[in-house]
Amino acid sequence: MTDGGAQPSGGVAGVGSGRGGACAFPPARAGLNGSVRVPGDKSVSHRAVLFGAVNDGPLHVSGFLCSADTLATVEAVRALGVDVKEAGTDLVVCGAGWEGLREPADVVDVKNSGTLIRLLPGLVASSAFLCILTGDASIRRRPMARVLRPLRAMGVSVAGRGNDTLPPIAVRGGSLRGMRHEMQVASAQVKSCIMLAGLRAEGPTEICEPAASRDHTERIIRYAGGRVEREGDAKGPGIVRVWPVDGLRMDSLTVPGDFSSAAFFIVAASLIEGSEVTVENAGLNPSRTGLLAVLRRMGASLRVEETAAAGPEPVGRIIAATSALKATDVGADEVPNVIDELPLFLLAAAKAEGVSHLRGAAELRAKESDRLGAMAALLRALGVDVVEHPDGMDVHGRPEGWTGGQIATQADHRIAMCAAIAGAASSKGTIIDDADCIAVSYPDFVHHLEVLGGR
Ligand code: S3P
Repeated sequence: MTDGGAQPSGGVAGVGSGRGGACAFPPARAGLNGSVRVPGDKSVSHRAVLFGAVNDGPLHVSGFLCSADTLATVEAVRALGVDVKEAGTDLVVCGAGWEGLREPADVVDVKNSGTLIRLLPGLVASSAFLCILTGDASIRRRPMARVLRPLRAMGVSVAGRGNDTLPPIAVRGGSLRGMRHEMQVASAQVKSCIMLAGLRAEGPTEICEPAASRDHTERIIRYAGGRVEREGDAKGPGIVRVWPVDGLRMDSLTVPGDFSSAAFFIVAASLIEGSEVTVENAGLNPSRTGLLAVLRRMGASLRVEETAAAGPEPVGRIIAATSALKATDVGADEVPNVIDELPLFLLAAAKAEGVSHLRGAAELRAKESDRLGAMAALLRALGVDVVEHPDGMDVHGRPEGWTGGQIATQADHRIAMCAAIAGAASSKGTIIDDADCIAVSYPDFVHHLEVLGGR
């Protein structure tokens, strides 16, 4: 078994072809077989550091994901005056409550991390200092009004480029009032930003979500002694209510493995002839695992065994094997639960019998790249017929498979890993222009693919 908990192997650039981050992914002719232990969950790792920064006392974090995105969060809280001691996947975040936060001496660089630029403004919303945030070219295209508007309604001074819609953004915190906010689009990042501010507000804060988004923030708040409740349908619309706290207290927090990282090998095993892969340490939070239901509808052979809890999160083992897939549809109600796995759903659909439809997924255009556009180009490069819609795609599956092709990742880690799996599942392989971006969420991805028999 590979140990995803080990130190990252220094990014995947070293396995590239020498042309920048370009990388070839040949067919995995003997299938993918064996076990892989996926690294820590990206969403929970960000939150562990952010909540650790305002924890009453040191927080010991284990299973932390050491990746470009989550290390940007470590640097961000250091810039806020919080000491973080790092030893690979173990961290100690030396929080001293919200009172321990200090004004950053410079602009905070979130690099490629959408979660960081959406959550940090909520963390500093009650701090009477200036915090300016920016990031890479992809971040500077990401919509920010969705967090700036509700923060302003709570009493925070905010500003952003493009009439307060884009990074760089500036936040000057102050005293906050609780409020009710209606989210237009289900977003755990927006919900979490408002909840973080709500923990310091006068009176309760209510957030109405049109569909249930991932609930890691709610789980951590409860784990740390705070109060948060959700009223409504477990998967559908609901109201999340959070109450102010005097402080939060956790001694330790274990990060589960990342279901979104596990998903690459689950889909790869389903698609590639002669495969059986066991993914250990996969987070099984039901607000994240919608892809399993989608793949089961497609006829995938999957077994899930819940093993233990990692702090407030369920964890287990997922066993996936080669399957003849058939088409299915994914609509708006299911999208938040599968949001980061939709590129993989589209790839699975490309080898399924029949035409699959994705709708209600316009949000995919506002991720690290325009993921609908990037996936349409990827699938066309493989010779798959697709029809792109503003909020989705029709994919005409090719159960006979595809030969391969040259793929542009748009510097998006999830598109790069999809293209790698597409190569392993092809008859001639894929070449991608940039494998370096994989380090954003899964630095050991190529190594793990090799251990299972790929490349
Ligand atoms: C995340 C929430 C999702 C997801 C992102 C991580 C989080 O974004 O796409 O990768 O950690 O809260 P939205 O909540 O904006 O959909």
